[in-house]
Amino acid sequence: MEIEDKIKELESRNREAEMGGGQKRIDQQHKKGKMTARERIDYLLDKGSFQEVDKFVVHRCHDFGMDRKKIPGDGVVTGYGRIDGRLVFLFSQDFTVFGGSLSGAFGEKVCKVMDLALKNGAPMIGLNDSGGARIQEGVMSLGGYGEIFKRNVWSSGVVPQISVIMGPCAGGAVYSPALTDLTIMVKKTSNMFITGPQVIKAVTSEEVSAEALGGAMAHNTKSGVAHFAEDSDQEALDRVRELLSYLPQNYREKPPVVECTDDPNRTEKALNTVVPTNPRLPYDMIDIIKAVLDNNRFLEVQKYFAKNMVVGFGRLNGMSVGVIANQPKFLAGCLDTKASVKCARFIRMCDAFNLPTITFVDVPGYLPGVQQEYDGIIKHGAKIIFAYSEATVPKITVVTRKAYGGAYIAMSAKHLGGDINFAYPTAEIAVMGPEGAANIIFRKELAEAEDPAATKERLVEEYRDNFASPFKAAELGYTDHIILPEKTRGVLIEALMMLKDKRESIPERRHGNIPL
Ligand code: HXC
Repeated sequence: MEIEDKIKELESRNREAEMGGGQKRIDQQHKKGKMTARERIDYLLDKGSFQEVDKFVVHRCHDFGMDRKKIPGDGVVTGYGRIDGRLVFLFSQDFTVFGGSLSGAFGEKVCKVMDLALKNGAPMIGLNDSGGARIQEGVMSLGGYGEIFKRNVWSSGVVPQISVIMGPCAGGAVYSPALTDLTIMVKKTSNMFITGPQVIKAVTSEEVSAEALGGAMAHNTKSGVAHFAEDSDQEALDRVRELLSYLPQNYREKPPVVECTDDPNRTEKALNTVVPTNPRLPYDMIDIIKAVLDNNRFLEVQKYFAKNMVVGFGRLNGMSVGVIANQPKFLAGCLDTKASVKCARFIRMCDAFNLPTITFVDVPGYLPGVQQEYDGIIKHGAKIIFAYSEATVPKITVVTRKAYGGAYIAMSAKHLGGDINFAYPTAEIAVMGPEGAANIIFRKELAEAEDPAATKERLVEEYRDNFASPFKAAELGYTDHIILPEKTRGVLIEALMMLKDKRESIPERRHGNIPL
């Protein structure tokens, strides 16, 4: 064979692999509003940077006539490329080939790129669109999942892992995304569940649609399994690029610093009045967060879930930070089970990838309630304490208003290792709210008072004046400084610059035992 013929054969084999399951199935994919596996890769990566591996791999199944049905690549496109010039590894499941189902060979392809990502310290991105285990292969496929799960766990905290759900993702297959750092779902075209509507109907008689059970909004509002819900494949892939811009390549590196086009000393007069003096009135904590961050840009994570807690990414003077905040607009900013889990997991992601935490506190306490106790608010609430205490990244706290009791301690207090703790003049740092406190310590006076209402008002006021302020905490050094709200941005940036080379370690151990 002449070299020209060899090259022609290669070109023809490349074309065959690139057609996946064929034009008819590609058209069906487009009709559903979905891009193909290769179109997704081309859109996600820097132009022309994709380097494919295992393009000609085929399955090894002989049952059910499968030996006559072999498609090069076997349902998943794998390789590496660049995003904003930075190396990433990825796999993109191809629904046009056996429904994107996972065979033994498919699993090995995914594991190969996961191993490369881990060894070379670069993010791993999974684009999921699959009917799950390849039914014709049976247990070989299950083995493939197990190998992927193990690699997800070994990569956890070493390299960022991002999952995008762009079609079906069912059965045990959901556990790979669940083990990664961030999961993005596409509205209407994606779903995730352990068992689908038909099995649920057979087992529990509940009737539910696939969308209501495991669609993007179900997992963004109810279960908290997903972190983002996007309108299209393109928007989901844009989100991946944006997320990676805040993260380092691996745990040994710091996140990239971008040029700051916003004045580091920008003051915001509006912040002086954003917190209402009436402690019962809500306000939007996101107004403060946005006012302080570079160019007012805040990328909120899990924005539809446990809205009483706000978490997300932003930059201060070009440096990536993780923001964690109570949201007085919802449940008065109380800590409940869902908010606790959301908060703790985000802190641990920040700590794993060297993002300083900036915590804004306005918290009346843990949410009281029988159901909360039965749901385990004790163990879930403990997760926040665990996460902040073990985090060794720079930790900066700003108490804007209420910081009561256990919740005050949990929200990155000095005592858990907060490096710099600020308070606004409106802060109330105390063991509990003035009303509750007055009811307990002045119980006798109130019982004996001629005019209980007036007496209570006076005693509550007395307590508030004496204790519900930032000054007691400042006298003890529990608050490092009481700041003018308008200067928050400049003060945070100075603190961050001071802490940027912070070194701290916690006692050596195999690993902690976070309450789960
Ligand atoms: C082999 C599969 C497949 C699978 C789909 N296909 N799922 N082939 N194994 N798991 C094939 C179909 O036969 C079809 O082939 C093509 O992919 C497209 O599928 P359709 O059904 O035509 O598409 P659609 O109507 O969009 O439905 C998609 C679907 C459905 C909802 C995913 O295909 C489905 O329910 N599949 C089975 C899902 C499932 O039960 N998987 C196993 C889960 S258990 P042709 O040739 O006709 O185009 C599991 C365990 C993991 O995953 C455990 C890990 C520990």
